[in-house]
Amino acid sequence: MTDKELLSLAVKAMENSYSPYSGCKVGAALLTESGKVYLGTNIENAAFGPTICAERVAIFKAVSEGEKSFSKIAVVGGKNGVINGIFAPCGVCRQVMREFCSDDFTVIMGISETEYKSLPLSDLLPLSFSPEDVK
Ligand code: THU
Repeated sequence: MTDKELLSLAVKAMENSYSPYSGCKVGAALLTESGKVYLGTNIENAAFGPTICAERVAIFKAVSEGEKSFSKIAVVGGKNGVINGIFAPCGVCRQVMREFCSDDFTVIMGISETEYKSLPLSDLLPLSFSPEDVK
């Protein structure tokens, strides 16, 4: 699975965004080490607090299906579904990635439907608090 293929799956995932409050549609496509893809989109809530990001939906779907080894994730988003530059993963999602992914896990951030910037998780979450810290 190429980075561009994963990005286009993330764009597809945006279609199911439930975002009546912010109007921001976000899509994520997570690739497991075994080659499976899990899609996620943001799901908002009238009480605001229960809102969950696209990245965490994809990760939690995968973990709940028994997957715990991941190689990369593509993330794309924008107001009203218009991709207008990077929609970077929030801090909570970065921390959830750190729980299951090593420092070289790749985060592919869409700039448009076909262009992206990719960075290792260690660049997005330096000096991270990790599962090793509580062993
Ligand atoms: N959002 C995501 O889905 N992922 C992120 O990493 C940042 C924010 C969503 C949550 C909310 O539905 C909307 O974007 C605006 O914050």
